[in-house]
Formats: sequence, structure tokens, C-alpha cells
Amino acid sequence: MSHSIPKGLFDILPSDLKAEDKWREVHLWQYLENVLKKTAFDYAFEEIRTPIFESTDLFTRGVGDSSDIVTKEMYTFLDKSDRSLTLRPEGTASVMRAFIENQMYQAKKTHKLFYIGPMFRYERPQAGRYRQHHQFGAEAIGSSSPYQDVEIIDMLCEIYRRLGLSNLTVLINSVGNMETRDRYKNALHDYLQEHEKDLSKDSQVRFQKNILRILDSKDPKDKQILQEAPCILDFLESSAKDHFDLVCSLLSKEKIPYKIDHKLVRGLDYYNHTVFEVVCDELGAQNTVGAGGRYDGLIHDLGGPDIPSVGFATGMERILQTMIKQNVKLPKKNHPFLYLIGIDKTAFDTCFHLLTKLHRQQIPAQMDFSGKKLSICLQNADQSCAEYTVVLGETEIQTNSLKLKHMASRKEESVTLSDLTSFIQKLWFKQGETFRENA
Ligand code: HAM
Repeated sequence: MSHSIPKGLFDILPSDLKAEDKWREVHLWQYLENVLKKTAFDYAFEEIRTPIFESTDLFTRGVGDSSDIVTKEMYTFLDKSDRSLTLRPEGTASVMRAFIENQMYQAKKTHKLFYIGPMFRYERPQAGRYRQHHQFGAEAIGSSSPYQDVEIIDMLCEIYRRLGLSNLTVLINSVGNMETRDRYKNALHDYLQEHEKDLSKDSQVRFQKNILRILDSKDPKDKQILQEAPCILDFLESSAKDHFDLVCSLLSKEKIPYKIDHKLVRGLDYYNHTVFEVVCDELGAQNTVGAGGRYDGLIHDLGGPDIPSVGFATGMERILQTMIKQNVKLPKKNHPFLYLIGIDKTAFDTCFHLLTKLHRQQIPAQMDFSGKKLSICLQNADQSCAEYTVVLGETEIQTNSLKLKHMASRKEESVTLSDLTSFIQKLWFKQGETFRENA
């Protein structure tokens, strides 16, 4: 009986994959993770790791029980003791749960935390949308300053800059505080009431359940109706307006291009004040690469103290897909520096000894264990994409002399067997840095 991967999931593999699947090659993920971690450290963020499942009520309360995520997308199950658990659909609620439960607020006032890991949403799979996807997220806890909002947005953009992405647009809006949103929802309700029957089916449901989400509708008729709808920015109180104005002016000063999109409300209920998304039109329907915003009430709502926070998360699949679409220079695949072939028992043992020596010197090396004839071993060496290959037989051992072959140029160099490890070591120090781009 054969088994296949569940719908909406994918494997990340060490093989060379065809163009449209290239983003699933593991060395690209390793490279991306390194850039993400380095950027996080440069912005003084520390890593936090939380479990991949939590009590269901964390997300119902945290993300919001009228959000799409909670109403239709959660992987929820009962454990053997009938506890309702959910595979995390996002990272923010879990990080805040850990922050409160471990009383991290006792140690210091501000915390900057980042995480990398899989998230699970039961969505209709399509290009760029998966049932297990991976996020890098950053949460700045403890500051209500607009400068913190801008540092967070800049950090997200810096990640994309370091990866060589272009043609990205930062969309930004303010959703004010709870009272602003309530007043705005009433105004939107009054406006949409007379258009209700002309709205798309989805928007008619949202009209009853979560009216703000209608602003996200991609339906052309809904879009037309929304053209005349009231604008949330007109409902902001003066302090919220000042906050938003300062965020916008800091973005301009730091030369971070942005567009105000007053219909941007985000699908998770915890946001207040600044919300933002980074979109890339080359990605098609699922064009949001990263997104986030301020969520000053979430820690308190989850039972913790009143501590303001702002953060973002970016989808790693979408980053890699954008890099490939934009022909960004990709890192080379990891491959051995030296491939060793021994053609008889004595040479085999000598090669194995050399192999262990190279590994202990932290030089990537591989030996052919197939025991097949030389032509097959040479094919294996080619497939391994090794930088150099050495073939050792009786003659090489007797004469203490061998040929080191540079695989790309096919050029050979004579080296004595007794000097081979130190010779390779020298080459490795010369070439190692460019060779190990992803390390
Ligand atoms: P989100 O917008 O739901 O925000 O997800 C963040 C990013 O994850 C999206 O911009 C997208 O790139 C990626 N993503 C989401 N769902 C999928 C999917 N099904 N397949 C592939 N990629 C996906 C959050 O999760 C918030 N926790 C962000 C945040 C952090 N806000 C404040 N702090």
C-alpha cells in the first residue's frame, strides 16, 4: 500500500527540483533561516520556541472567535483526556501565552522575541497557500512608541532587502482603538445596509458576523460598493491620529516607501492602531509576503498585565517563491568539497581513514561506499557535485602520488598521498568561504 502526503502539504527536499518546485529545495530554506536569524540578532531580537499545539481557547480568545482562522481554519482535536487542542494557526497568541505564563514581564520591561516554525490552517490550497506553512515572526513587547512600529516595519523590509527582493509595497493603515472600531463598524453598517442584497454571498455573511472583513473582499461588485464607504481614518481620535501621522512621517524619513490603504483591516481580531502588509504583485492571488501590526490589548485579554506590543510575521514559502520569480541570485547547494574513491581493499581503508580525518577537520567530504566498478563511482562523484575527486588504487599507494581532479574544470593536479589532507585543508581555507555560502 502506498501513502501520499495530505492535501495542502509539501516536502522540503535535498534534491534538485524542477523550476516551479525549486522553492522546496532544503538549502534555500537553510539560507533563508540564516538570513532571518542574523537580521533578528542585528535588531536585538531573541528567539522563543513554543509548542506547535495549544489549548483551543487560546486562539478563540486571542485571534478572535469571529475571525476566519477561528471559524473555519483551525486544526482542532480532542486528546485522550478530552481536552480540546489546536495546531497553532499563527505564532503571536502562543508567544503571548508563553510570555504571560513564564512571567517574563517580571524580569524587564521590554522584550523582543522572534520565532520560526510551521503554522497550520485548514484553507483551500492553492499556489502560495498551504495547510502547513512556515512563518518567521517578530514581536516587540513593552513599547507603545510609534518608533517601535517603524522599527518593526523596517525590520521586515530589511529582511526582504537582504534577500534581494524588489517590487514590494508596504500598505499601512490605522484601525484605532476599540471605541474607534465600534463607531466605524456602526457607520459601515449604516452605509452597507442599503447595499446588503447586492453584496457577494461571502460579504452578506460577513455583514452579519464580522462587517470589517467586507473591506477585504476581492469581488468586483463589492469593491464598487465599497468605493463610497466611510473611511476608518476619519474616525480616529486625535491621539491615534497623531500616532499614525508620526509612523507615516518616520517611514518617509527612513525612506521606507509605503501606501496608505484605508481598507486594510487584517483578518485577526487583536490589532489596534497601526496595521500593515507587504505585498508583491508578482505572487498572484496570495500576494501578501508579510504582515503585522500593533496589538496593545492582547496580553491583557489573555490574562496578563496591560502591556503594549507590535509585531509581524512573514511567510517563508512566499519569500522563496518571490525570490525565484524575481530571479534573485540563489545560494549554491551544499555539496562535498572532496569525494574519495578507493578501488581495492587497501585503498578503500586508506580512503576511509582520510575521510574521518577530513570530517574531524570540519571539511565536507564524502566517500564512495558502493563497492561498484570505477566508472560507476565516477558517476556517483559527478552526482555528488563535489568540488574535487580523488581516486586511490594500488599504484597511488605504492608511488605515494595521486591526481586531485577539479570537477568543474576537469583539471588534474599531482599531490603526494601523505600530503593530501594538508593540501585539501589549504584549498579549503582558500575557497571555503565562497564554497559555504549558506553555512
Ligand atoms: P497573517 O497575515 O495571518 O499574520 O500571516 C502572516 C504571513 O504568513 C502572511 O503574510 C503570509 O505570508 C503567510 N501565510 C499565512 N497563511 C498562509 C498559508 N495558508 N500559506 C502560506 N503562507 C501563509 C499572522 O499570522 C500574525 N500572527 C502576524 C503578526 C505577528 N501580527 C503581529 N505579530
